[in-house]
Amino acid sequence: MNFGNIPDDVIAAVLKYHEIVEVVSKYVHLAKQGRNFKGLCPFHSEKSPSFTVSPDKQIFNCFGCGTAGNAIKFVMEIEGLTFPEAVRQLAEEADIPIGWESAPAEETAGQKEKRLIIEGHELAAKWYNYLLKNSELGKPAMEYLRGRGFTDRMIDEFQIGYSPPMWDKLCQFLNSRNINLAIMEKGGLVSANSEGNGYLDRFRDRIMFPIRDARGRTVAFAGRVLKEAQPKYLNTPETVLFNKSSILYNLDRAKSSIRKSRKAVLFEGYADVIKAWDAGAANGVATMGTALTEEHARVLKRFADEVIVCYDGDDAGQAAAFKSLALLERSGCNAQVAILPGRMDPDEYISVNGAQKFLSEIINSAVPSTKFKLIYLQRNHILQKDEGKLKYIQEALKIIAELHSPTEREHYVKELSHDFQYSIQSLNEQLHQIREQLQKKKNFGDNKENSWNNVMNDRRTEKTSPVLLPAFHNAERKLLAVMMEDADVALYVREQLGDRFNVEAHAALAAYLYAYYADGNEPDASRYMATLHNEQLEKVASSIAMTDSTGGINDKVIDDYIREIKKYPQLAALELKKEEIARAERAGDVIRAAQIASEIISLERQLKTL
Ligand code: GTP
Ligand code: MN
Repeated sequence: MNFGNIPDDVIAAVLKYHEIVEVVSKYVHLAKQGRNFKGLCPFHSEKSPSFTVSPDKQIFNCFGCGTAGNAIKFVMEIEGLTFPEAVRQLAEEADIPIGWESAPAEETAGQKEKRLIIEGHELAAKWYNYLLKNSELGKPAMEYLRGRGFTDRMIDEFQIGYSPPMWDKLCQFLNSRNINLAIMEKGGLVSANSEGNGYLDRFRDRIMFPIRDARGRTVAFAGRVLKEAQPKYLNTPETVLFNKSSILYNLDRAKSSIRKSRKAVLFEGYADVIKAWDAGAANGVATMGTALTEEHARVLKRFADEVIVCYDGDDAGQAAAFKSLALLERSGCNAQVAILPGRMDPDEYISVNGAQKFLSEIINSAVPSTKFKLIYLQRNHILQKDEGKLKYIQEALKIIAELHSPTEREHYVKELSHDFQYSIQSLNEQLHQIREQLQKKKNFGDNKENSWNNVMNDRRTEKTSPVLLPAFHNAERKLLAVMMEDADVALYVREQLGDRFNVEAHAALAAYLYAYYADGNEPDASRYMATLHNEQLEKVASSIAMTDSTGGINDKVIDDYIREIKKYPQLAALELKKEEIARAERAGDVIRAAQIASEIISLERQLKTL
């Protein structure tokens, strides 16, 4: 892999300037606990803090999801940046001169293809925008947009454009700019013609909304027809760069505002996002005309603690809002719903009622998710009849039963009692029964809440209880922990053990450590980790640096560790031989058994000399 020609001293300077606790504190609320700081992990959903930052070692580690690394790694993860991008950002903040080229010296074929697809899309976006604003062809589109209340400010900000009604106008333009159309077909911007000897524009006679990824790179388009026709919106198909289940429209521009307030507004449509932005809500994003996914929710949680769902007021919109709540809550976001009156969508509401009213009466009057769920439920039950009423109460209590806070439960029970004239006591009794059933279900392992990070949970057992690991495993971790703090020990281990660590990741970490010291570097866990460029290794390194104490370790202990590590392959071989001898004996193969017995004796002798 190539990480650009970033000089080591730039990385060192960046890590020296940026104190990790300060960097992390911009995004996570940290509290001091002993030598370390702790907080709620921004990378997965958790209720008690397992996200740990070590000011001594200048690294972070989440014992829940395993994300770990130094300050550069943290910025990469939280901002969705590549390694060179994160270094560049941190260097700029620190006024450290950047001595490397922005384009990596060598890129892989895959990286090159992506770069070209993005270049083609950015060029096309400019061209569509130009046609809309300056051409005769674009006049009807401009009139249509004006009719819907789109101003120049909105058109410029969102780079809205128009695709002309010809078959291959864009193809011709891209050709004239030496853009490779075969690659653009892979990027979904053009399609191959039926003869297979040329290309056609995918989008014709549509209002063009460029879609950017979280890093602000144009990777797709949504095109809307001007008149009523089907499909109303045409999107770029799924490509290497465009994944509808994770991309959110406008996230690139909204994220700084979301991060500041820790609040996002989730819309259904592009027009809604744009009009809301103009009305003063800069923290709006939308899905690509698909239902919200778990991935979307996870992306949102990286920037927001609270998500206001502002979907259309019609039945479909309200049903979609209802569905999105569970997903958002599972990702750890606090969800609210902004309810639009009279089946309107946000765009229409703003056009009719203006920005001020939209902000105060819709966005800032959003109701808590439980409240919305109860309102939504009411719509689907016939409350005039006793039967419907009782069914509703039962369903409503199920929703209330899921609430963790007793005061919140009490609040909604009181409301139900008031609205439907049942006694608080009988409602509470029923609630109690439902909660007991829920508890039973959970105890039976039907714990859906955590099912998404089962793999992580496996790893967590390994990390929090290293005592349970085999002796050699423990010895390798402890040894690496000392080596990270002491160059002489590393040198000694290099002579004694070299790469003969039994766990592959440990052998790799040792190799990187030898190279790190060979370059004349001082012990520094954070800087060392910047040389790894591998997520798995970073996780292991960070976990070792954080959890394996190096106190009370002397030369003798180090020799013991080395012996333990060397012993393991022979112990394993011995185990195999013992199984083999048992098999030979069972098969009555006396000669073979005797042969293996002598091999065992020599193995045991070797072990003693270690
Ligand atoms: P406008 O009429 O332009 O204001 O669109 P809207 O956002 O009000 O549309 P609507 O409420 O019908 O749909 C919400 C979102 O669903 C849109 O913004 C699109 O993302 C998506 N959508 C709607 N119709 C289509 C379609 O025909 N095809 C696809 N792929 N997506 C659609
Ligand atoms: Mn609309």
